[in-house]
Amino acid sequence: MASPDVLPGAVLPEVGTPTALAGAMADQHSDIPPRISVKHLRKEFDAKPSPLVALDDFSLDIAEGEFICVLGPSGCGKSTALRIIAGLEKCTAGQLTISAPREASRPSSAMVFQEHSLFPWLTVMQNVTYGLEMRGIAKKERVAAAEPFLKMVGLAKFRDHYPHQLSGGMKQRVSLARAFVIRPDILLMDEPFAALDAQNKLILQEELLRLWEADRKTIVFITHAIDEALALSDRIVIMTASPGRIKEVIPVTFARPRHVAELRADPKFGELYLAIWRVLEDEVRAARARTE
Ligand SMILES: Nc1ncnc2c1ncn2[C@@H]1O[C@H](COP(=O)(O)OP(=O)(O)OP(=O)(O)O)[C@@H](O)[C@H]1O
Ligand SMILES: [Mg+2]
Repeated sequence: MASPDVLPGAVLPEVGTPTALAGAMADQHSDIPPRISVKHLRKEFDAKPSPLVALDDFSLDIAEGEFICVLGPSGCGKSTALRIIAGLEKCTAGQLTISAPREASRPSSAMVFQEHSLFPWLTVMQNVTYGLEMRGIAKKERVAAAEPFLKMVGLAKFRDHYPHQLSGGMKQRVSLARAFVIRPDILLMDEPFAALDAQNKLILQEELLRLWEADRKTIVFITHAIDEALALSDRIVIMTASPGRIKEVIPVTFARPRHVAELRADPKFGELYLAIWRVLEDEVRAARARTE
């Protein structure tokens, strides 16, 4: 059965007092506790002849309202880390702390999965409003709340279609609308734009920035695209080949508001792109060597 993108209510595993800041965020916001704190996370999956270590000593603090992008070779544990943060997967060792939401009435988190996960028996509108229905919101209000987001993802005319009548990119856009509509405090996005065509990707990157700049929710966004990470994030986390650890955290200091297409013309963009690729390249090659 498909699992919902929207995780209504408190799905995050541990709400408590966050530990002290570490790394780059300590310098920037020493008086503000992190919204998400991950310490020495380890994840092993059962495998023969020995367990597969997907994550090892993965530590990261994410500030309230921060936009983090995670880059790393295929199979390095990005989705696993995100699923642990979402409370969908247990870690083998380590500690995850999510501090209390800014507004108690808002749902803690929503997740956009790497593979779109719509309910096949529900229409586009019903899928998008599913999370609101779970929260007991009346149909008229649900539809009114969903309409701007369906328009934003360019699917207003497809509201009564079923998922099997949509292309892969359209399904992914429904998943995005479904996550946005509940206005979560934390948005966890696993390669959300990977299945989109280049033009829709650009439009939705701009829309995501516009939404984020309006209310600064905390976003953890996995991508394989260096240019996407540079255009969107405050910091880029680069992971090692499996078992996934954090190799480097790179601050992205382009002024905001940003315009994705214009940013690419900035010479600093090209310089940073190359610097990030140089860090990433060894890991991608190591990951390929291991799986070949
Ligand atoms: N449920 C599972 N059972 C066993 N092994 C798993 C499971 N989920 C993931 N793995 C393994 O853990 C490792 C990390 O997987 P994960 O999906 O987190 O990688 P990823 O970085 O998201 O890769 P991609 O960029 O290709 O999406 C892989 O070796 C994968 O085979
Ligand atoms: Mg993945």
